[in-house]
Amino acid sequence: MGMDTDNAPWWTRATGYQIYPRSFQDSDGDGIGDLRGIISRLDYLAGLGIGFVWLSPVYASPMCDMGYDISDYRAIAPEFGTMGDMDRLIAEARARDIGIVMDLVVNHTSDRHAWFEEARASRDAARRDWYVWRDPAPDGGPPNDLQSTFGGPAWTLDASGQYYLHLFDRHQPDLNWDNPAMRAEIHAMMRWWFDRGIAGFRMDVIDLIGKDVDRGVTVDGPELHDRIREMMQATAAGRDVVTVGEAWSATPETALLYCGRDRGELSMIFQFAHITRFWGGPRGKWAPEPFDLVEFKRVLDRWQAALAEDGWNSLFWSNHDLPRAVSAYGDPGRWRVRSAKMLATVLHLMKGTPFVYQGEELGMANAGFGSIDAYRDVETLNMHRLMTEGGMSDAEFLAGAAISSRDNARTPMQWTDGAQAGFTTGTPWIGVNPDHRQVNAAAQLDDPDSVLAHYRRLIALRREMDLIVFGSYTPLVPDHPAVFAYRRDLHGEALTVIANWTGEEVSLDLPPGMETAGTCLITNCERRDRLDTRMNLAPYEAFALLHAPSSPARRD
Ligand code: GLC
Repeated sequence: MGMDTDNAPWWTRATGYQIYPRSFQDSDGDGIGDLRGIISRLDYLAGLGIGFVWLSPVYASPMCDMGYDISDYRAIAPEFGTMGDMDRLIAEARARDIGIVMDLVVNHTSDRHAWFEEARASRDAARRDWYVWRDPAPDGGPPNDLQSTFGGPAWTLDASGQYYLHLFDRHQPDLNWDNPAMRAEIHAMMRWWFDRGIAGFRMDVIDLIGKDVDRGVTVDGPELHDRIREMMQATAAGRDVVTVGEAWSATPETALLYCGRDRGELSMIFQFAHITRFWGGPRGKWAPEPFDLVEFKRVLDRWQAALAEDGWNSLFWSNHDLPRAVSAYGDPGRWRVRSAKMLATVLHLMKGTPFVYQGEELGMANAGFGSIDAYRDVETLNMHRLMTEGGMSDAEFLAGAAISSRDNARTPMQWTDGAQAGFTTGTPWIGVNPDHRQVNAAAQLDDPDSVLAHYRRLIALRREMDLIVFGSYTPLVPDHPAVFAYRRDLHGEALTVIANWTGEEVSLDLPPGMETAGTCLITNCERRDRLDTRMNLAPYEAFALLHAPSSPARRD
């Protein structure tokens, strides 16, 4: 059952762009990015060619988790603007053919949401059951040993004598998805947003909403898929929208449950296996295991295979929770430009919908702050406290944070080489990366060799070529330790993508029987117009050759 390419949904051809609003563009000098700032940069996004923006949360929030702790789903945080600004953003984006995708954070609310304030006020409150309450264990401790992602127990004892559940910070109480009235209110809220003209939702930690707390089951719980289906029927039915579920627990085996075309669930999910594969050590992401390209390719190839005929892949290297791509996988020093382009080439020519995380298209690198005072992220600060209480030195913690803290990707967008990178006229809420003097949009906009120009070209190619959108995917040289290569095929047309993932020159022996002649679609080095059975690839070299069915094979 292949996809009917003529009637394929719009989001299969589009490229997404994630905005972390707090750090994108400040318009009023308070040091915090805002909606008017985003509106002022819509032409930049249109010039890049993206089809939709995923906006990290802009709802009313005490900002304990920078907006992932919502206190009112139908209001905009004052530091980000007003509902009028939001409506203008949706309309102005639409005028440029860009959809706005909102972040849907419904596993939990803020503890300052009116629902939670009512629920915690008394055990008889009408909305008490909208959250997850349990009596203490016989020894007075938490009801079970569920742990919070941000460190420590997932239970906090409240004045009522019961514990409430929070799989994240204690200021983020989990909603009780067993409660039908709560679910109905979430659905109504989603319809309200759809009616304002948004293009879809990115669904925060959606794999948690079917949990069975008493059995200690959080991800992938028994009710999960019924709840997603119910949600979609109640909100998205009959609307041409995109839905992307964040699903840390998804595997190639479970993926189609979320995004199989007959499931009535989601357009696609964000899957993380290519990232979490290296977080298996005792300190998880705070001390990742050494990167291994063969393993990395194996994971991605499995995802491509699993969703080859049904479902759809999302493609991303980075987001607001992850390190910067060029720091994690490339070389932000000597080979910054070339390695950033290599990473983009490999990602954008795979099958799926690619997502660009703000600044990635400039080759922005990790902040790597040298002092704990520079960090703002609740997870980093909680972990710092817990790990240093447990005996870890500050220096050791900071070394891990420089690799994996979420703040690495949250520093202000680098627009210019001037004060605060052109992000704000005030004092930014988090430090600007000093490398903005070299790495900024102004320096790249008119430079045809810039990382930005490379992204523009890749995004345009996807808009133009069905081969890139729908072509089948075949890994080449899966066991090569330094080269990421694959082939795409559609109706006799083929694309070969070859990338040296390392800073060393490497040699590559291609499997026999491949077409050699081609047209270079894109490269980050010298143009090549043919493949040789043995090739030497320059450091981080990446290119794609198009083999058209009609092009006569060239013989030398
Ligand atoms: C998701 C978000 C992350 C947030 C968490 C809790 O993983 O991407 O930023 O902290 O959910 O909402």
